[in-house]
Amino acid sequence: MTVLVAFASAHGSTLGIAARIADRLSHLGVPAEAHEVREPLDLSRFEAVVLGSAVHTRQWLPEAAAFVRRHRAELASRPLWLFSVSSIGDQESFFENRLGRWMSRHHPDSAEVQRYRTALRARGHRNFAGAVEPGHWGILGAAFLLGLGGHHGDHRNWPAIDAWAEAIAREVRRV
Ligand SMILES: Cc1cc2nc3c(=O)[nH]c(=O)nc-3n(C[C@H](O)[C@H](O)[C@H](O)COP(=O)(O)O)c2cc1C
Repeated sequence: MTVLVAFASAHGSTLGIAARIADRLSHLGVPAEAHEVREPLDLSRFEAVVLGSAVHTRQWLPEAAAFVRRHRAELASRPLWLFSVSSIGDQESFFENRLGRWMSRHHPDSAEVQRYRTALRARGHRNFAGAVEPGHWGILGAAFLLGLGGHHGDHRNWPAIDAWAEAIAREVRRV
């Protein structure tokens, strides 16, 4: 059983999360490989898939959406987990204040992710906060971030990411 951890990342924080999940799975005895979604990939080599994308303007990156279109049948026929990397994770966010905690609690899946969850029969979806540097997100992004009391920097919650990888390892072993 080899798990594919496929990812789309513009500035590297999603790449880092995907690499960490693949490392963690391998360390737990579930061989896993992280690959960028634009790589030519033969999905028949993989028995399960973890697929994640950075979020820009509330959507997955176009190359992640293209990956889903290209591999819809293979994804729907394998155990599949999804993750999104943005300013708001399920347990952490770029906004380390009361508003941030509220946004984490009230962060429904986007229509796009809901579609993928249903169409691909995904076993789960997690939101993780990523990282952002000044200049990455443009003037409107910076206004949103700083206006709501957020901070630039790396907000990845490694214990939460590791715990999710461990939960996936447990499920994969039961498949
Ligand atoms: C152009 C741009 C648009 C973004 N749009 C959103 C957004 O709509 N919602 C959000 O929560 N975060 C948004 N972000 C924050 C990113 O999702 C976050 O920085 C993420 O960690 C980026 O992942 P990456 O480093 O793998 O590219 C945006 C960032 C950029 C650079």
